Order: sequence, then C-alpha cells, then structure tokens
Amino acid sequence: MIAIELKALDFAASAALSADALVLLVPPDFKASGAEAQTIAAAQKSGDLVVKTAATLALYKPEGFAAKRVWLVAVDKPSIKDLRAAVSHAMALARGAGAKRLAIGLNLIAELDEKRLHGAVLTAADAAYTYTHTKPKAETTTVQQVALIAAPGHGLEAAFKVAVATAAGAEIAKEWGNRPGNHATPTLLAKAAQDLAKKHKLGCEVLGPAQVKKLGMGSFMSVAQGSAEPLRFVVLRYNGAPAKQAPHVLVGKGITFDTGGISLKPGAEMDEMKFDMCGAASVLGAFAAIATLKPKLNVVGLIAACENMPDGLAVKPGDVVQSMSGQSIEILNTDAEGRLILCDALTYAERFKPQSVVDIATLTGACVIALGGVRSGMYASTDELASALSQAGDKALDPCWRMPLDDEYAEGLKSNFADVANIAGRAGGSITAAKFLQRFASKYPWGHLDIAGTAWKGGAAKGATGRPVGLLVQYLLSQVGAEAAAKAEPKAAAKTPVNAPAKAPTKAPSKTTAKAKPSAKPKA
Ligand code: BES
Ligand code: MN
Ligand code: ZN
Repeated sequence: MIAIELKALDFAASAALSADALVLLVPPDFKASGAEAQTIAAAQKSGDLVVKTAATLALYKPEGFAAKRVWLVAVDKPSIKDLRAAVSHAMALARGAGAKRLAIGLNLIAELDEKRLHGAVLTAADAAYTYTHTKPKAETTTVQQVALIAAPGHGLEAAFKVAVATAAGAEIAKEWGNRPGNHATPTLLAKAAQDLAKKHKLGCEVLGPAQVKKLGMGSFMSVAQGSAEPLRFVVLRYNGAPAKQAPHVLVGKGITFDTGGISLKPGAEMDEMKFDMCGAASVLGAFAAIATLKPKLNVVGLIAACENMPDGLAVKPGDVVQSMSGQSIEILNTDAEGRLILCDALTYAERFKPQSVVDIATLTGACVIALGGVRSGMYASTDELASALSQAGDKALDPCWRMPLDDEYAEGLKSNFADVANIAGRAGGSITAAKFLQRFASKYPWGHLDIAGTAWKGGAAKGATGRPVGLLVQYLLSQVGAEAAAKAEPKAAAKTPVNAPAKAPTKAPSKTTAKAKPSAKPKA
C-alpha cells in the first residue's frame, strides 16, 4: 500500500509544507486569516471557486505556498460522502500531474472526526491501488506518499492507525480477490496465508486432503473431489492475550472458482466466480490488520479452500455425504457448495471453545437480490453479537444489515435421505443458507456475513472491494476486554441465542430441529 501519514498543521503551516502537490479542501464557510488565506477567500468571493463538492481551482504559483502545485477543491457539505469524493478527486489531480508526494489539507474542515478520517484514508488507499499481478503494464498511480493534514490538537492518531491498518488489510483482500482462479488456487491461497504468518509472526498450519479426511470433513471433501487442484484447510493464529483467554474465530469461504459443479452455472459472468474466495481473502486482510494493531485478544482464522468443478469424479445431485459434525447431508444442488465447506469448518471451530465464531462468505445470489451492494447480510445467534457486528460495520463505513433466523425458514431443508438437505426452495435463499449453517454452529455465539453483494463490483469497474475487512477489524477491536466485562455482568445477560428453540416454546419445535442430533441443537 502507499504510505499515508497524518500531520497536525494549521493553515499557515500547511501552506509552508513542501510537497509535489497540495490539495486544500475548502468548506463553504471558510474564513480567511493570514496572507495566504486571502487568495482562497478571494477565489470564493469572486465565484471562481464554486461551492460544489469536487469543484476545483488550480492556483498558479500562489504567494506563500511551498508546494509545487496547489489546488483548491470545494467541499459543499462536510459529509463523509462529500469528503470521500473530494479526496478521490485530489488523488486524481495528483495522478494527472504526475505528483509523487501529495498533501491533502483536511484542516479547514471543522467537522473532521474519526469516521471522516477513516473514510479519507480508505479512499486515498483505494485510489492508489492498481491490480498488476497479471497486467504488469497497467497504468499505476504516480502517488507514493499521501500526507493528510488535520488541524493541530485533532486527537485522531489512534483512529488514524486503525484506518491505515484497515486499508492495508483491505488491499490484501482486494488483491487476492482479484487474482484469477488459475493464479489463486487453494494451494496458492494457503501459501499466501503462510507468507502473511511469516511476515507478522502469526501461527499458521495448512492441512491437505489426507488430514482433512482424517478429521472426517466429508462435506468439505465432497466439494473438492471434482477438481484436479487439491483442497487446503488453513488455521491462522494471532495470540495477543494469555493462552487461557478464549479466542474469536473467523471462518472464510475460499472457493477459488465456483463453476457450480454438476449443477453447472450459466456462462454469463461466470468469470466473476473467481471472487468466490473473498470471504477467505477478508480473513487474510483482517489478520494482517490485527497483527499490525496488536490488540490484547486471541484470534483464530480458518480458511476452507477448494475449487467447485464438474468432473467424472465430481459429487452429484442426490449424493449423501457425512459432515464432520456427524450430520449427513443430501446434496440436492452442487452449486450450493459454500455451506458444504463452511459447515465442516464451523464444526472444527468447536475445538477452540471460542468466545465467538463469525463466518464470511460470498454465499448466495439471493443476498445480492435482498441487499444489493450496499450492506452485507448479517446473521447472529445472539443479540449481543448482532449489535457488535452492526456497530463495527457502521464505524468502519462497511455496513451490514441483520437478517432473521426464525426456525420456520429451515422447513425446506428437510430431506428424506439425510439429516439435512443443502438447499431449500427459491424463497429467502440467503436465510435458508444461514439456517443450514446454524445447525453446525450451536456450540458458541455465531455470526455469519453473506458478502455476495459487497465483496466485489461487476461491470466496467470490475474488482474486489476489500470488504468486509473494515467490519471485521472493528469487531475484533471492540472485543478487547469484552470477556472480562461479560463475566462481571449477571449470568443470564446477553448470551441467550435468539430464534433458537425457546426455553418455553410458543409452538412445537420444527421437525428439522427435532431430527437434528443433540450436538446440533442450538443451545437454549
Ligand atoms: N458463490 C455462489 C453465490 C453467488 C452467486 C454470489 C452469484 C454472488 C453472485 C454460491 O456458491 C451459489 O452458487 N449459490 C447458489 C445457491 C443456490 C443453488 C441455492 C445461488 O445463490 O444461486
Ligand atoms: Mn455455488
Ligand atoms: Zn460459491
């Protein structure tokens, strides 16, 4: 990632700053003081700098400014959206001028706070990112350094550190998301985890087909069996707290390419199924950020990685497989493969006796229909976890929206030939997928992020977004000290799963729930 720093300078000092380019964001209520400011005030007064976000006025060698080039960029409202638009514009101006060292003056924006600064950092980093792995000659930005200037006494250093670490993590998620299927195989993805672990002194264990078979992950294996690429199961560990402290676990869907398998997908836009490992990539990105920020927490990252291919050996509709949990699964549609690899990873997570487990997956097209590309679908078995994830998303400008988990949604997952089927009807497809996963996540507070709509963009600007790294980082940071706080609370508080069979049921438990093995029952 490009270097981004935060400077605390008043207006006069920022004028004296040496840089290849200085872009000053100018709010409509700008008040001049000092000789240099007169230029700006005059420009506003004359109407040469109009009050409209990203309206630009280039100043030719203005008096009193040390930067080689100076632009004024108007900011109509100090909203996050307008500020981000102005920062993005500043990056484009610098790039157009071939500037290497850019300073962006945010010190005239009185409303500058943690969230706005977070937005400015993410936007600057995003604008400077270019995918080059298989396109080395791609036009890249010239900007190598960005100095964000805030007013003296801003008190934003801590938030700035988090923002920079988040942006760097999001860039890792973008990069791996963007790499084509043949450049991001399960083996290469596992190698990326090992390299990350080496760089940041994290624990990392990579399991292959033989070890996964020994663990009894029959569901995960069934997805991989049609591919020539061997599966990988990655266990990452960040230890920032004493070993006795229960960890938080992140579980990423790492389908490095999803053809649909025997239930083959239609051809249109199938290339975008290279992004089907964005959940796994977000786990890598979150670990990079956490390893940089070093919070007093223990975190485990699990990545189930394989391809979903049609083949003579591929799993077929109607096949029944045995999951690690002991539940048998009838695979009615081989394209509903994400849940088949995640369920075994969720069972594996039990061994950590975790404080929470959050899985991240480009799981359903239905989630794209429900929420589009703005908010990720969020599910949680406890209200406490739901509100933590929701607040984390808001804080990180990476929002999510809670979806329901009523047991009635699981009706369609019944099977005549196994404990559960891997699909229900078309209705509520994101929710029924979550209900499937919930059967494997009864031993701990569980959250699930369906990022099918938010992890990448299609069309002309096709590419991974780096989401939900920001949400995950904020969530984990919010959990520092949470265990101690929860212990201090009265026992009954907060941890009751919602939508789980109630202690005093208002209706008989659904058949699906009644049939489940005791181990698979959500705890009441
Ligand atoms: N990876 C897809 C989900 C997906 C599809 C994400 C389109 C983004 C855009 C997933 O593996 C899948 O194919 N899901 C099926 C499930 C269905 C067969 C129940 C889907 O959503 O169509
Ligand atoms: Mn699929
Ligand atoms: Zn998929």
